[in-house]
Amino acid sequence: TGHITLDDGYGNTGSCQSDVTFIDGEQGILRYRGYPIEQIAENSSFIEAAYLVIFGKLPKQDERDNFAQALADNAPLHQSMMKHFDGYGSNGQPMAVLSAMVNSLTAYDPHVMHPADESDVFNAAATLMSKVRTIAAASHKTTIGEPIVYPRPDLKYVENFLHMMFSTPYHDYEPTPEVVRALNMFLVLHADHEQNCSTSTVRMVASSKANMFASASAGISALWGPLHGGANVAVIEMLQKIYDEGLDPAVFMDEVKDKETGRKLMGFGHRVYKNFDPRATILKGAAFDMLEKMNIDDPLLDVALKLEEVALKDDYFVERKLYPNVDFYSGIILRAIGIPLDMFTVMFAIGRMPGWIANWKEVHEDPKSRIYRPRQIYTGDVENTWIPRNERS
Ligand code: CMC
Repeated sequence: TGHITLDDGYGNTGSCQSDVTFIDGEQGILRYRGYPIEQIAENSSFIEAAYLVIFGKLPKQDERDNFAQALADNAPLHQSMMKHFDGYGSNGQPMAVLSAMVNSLTAYDPHVMHPADESDVFNAAATLMSKVRTIAAASHKTTIGEPIVYPRPDLKYVENFLHMMFSTPYHDYEPTPEVVRALNMFLVLHADHEQNCSTSTVRMVASSKANMFASASAGISALWGPLHGGANVAVIEMLQKIYDEGLDPAVFMDEVKDKETGRKLMGFGHRVYKNFDPRATILKGAAFDMLEKMNIDDPLLDVALKLEEVALKDDYFVERKLYPNVDFYSGIILRAIGIPLDMFTVMFAIGRMPGWIANWKEVHEDPKSRIYRPRQIYTGDVENTWIPRNERS
């Protein structure tokens, strides 16, 4: 195996060719299909951004309407799928439920295993985009012990999700325009991010010719970890701890810098961005905007600002080029919307669905696609000889 080069964490390995998302980490540039993230976040709904990411172009009116209709049509879950929720009870981990249920969708869709043409892929994409939101809201309702709320065909994507999350049998939830706008922006900013851990997991699974739902389910599992999508939970837990215990951010930072503690400043650092994460910049502005419009005073935003200020002046962070990433401010927005902490990474998964689908589609549509099969540097014993049990030490 002498010819194999170790690339720890694939830091310098191009694992595929892709047309979906462009990142320039030195300059803090992120573009979906060539369109700057700032323009998409300002002007596009999540559905438009999803269409762009998945199908490669900004949709014309009829294309957009058609996609929106497919999402509305696909929102309900098969009645027997509803029974799954009963099994999880009230301490369901929404990410575990989501991953399992997205995988289970395969059992309810006759075409997804062997999509025959573009329209089968379109339908699978619409099914996944739509049902992931129904599953997410239903798992939340199950966790809090309320009846599951059915999707409404007359509501738009984000509004429908909020309805399923927050309506009850005795109260119809009506979101304010600020909430709808902020959630759309949150989802748009999460829509894709080239070959991150979960997306490359999706491609890895897809490379064995596994179906779209199974591949997305694997993506959800990869996203769960605190170094990836789980960071949005870890950030709030960190801010809350600092706030509750009245810790001095500078002292907290000393612990982060002490490698012995194994502690990290959650929501900071990125494999690719070495200047700033444009998503964090947009989210920070949006968080301020939203709290002001909604008249909310969130003390955790003050803690976050203080931490950022201390970090950006600190040699440790400056030398290592560590800046706030997408997860640093996103939680402030989710809290203001009323999303509970255990749903934060689920929200990331809903947002990332277009990127996973687009990357799955690239693998699926590439006639030359080759199975992903990295090599290793073997470090174990080269050869042992079997010994009887009573002679083993
Ligand atoms: N706090 C303290 N030190 C850090 C941090 C941090 N958040 N991030 C990186 N470092 C240090 C790291 O210890 C290393 O130091 P040294 O050179 O002395 O060994 C140096 O910076 C380089 O970091 P790395 O571990 O080589 O970076 P990586 O590219 O392997 O990891 C990362 C990237 C995002 C996993 C990491 O920065 C991290 O763990 N951040 C905190 C978790 C987080 O916020 N994750 C969300 C990532 S963005 C959105 C997403 O994917 O969900």
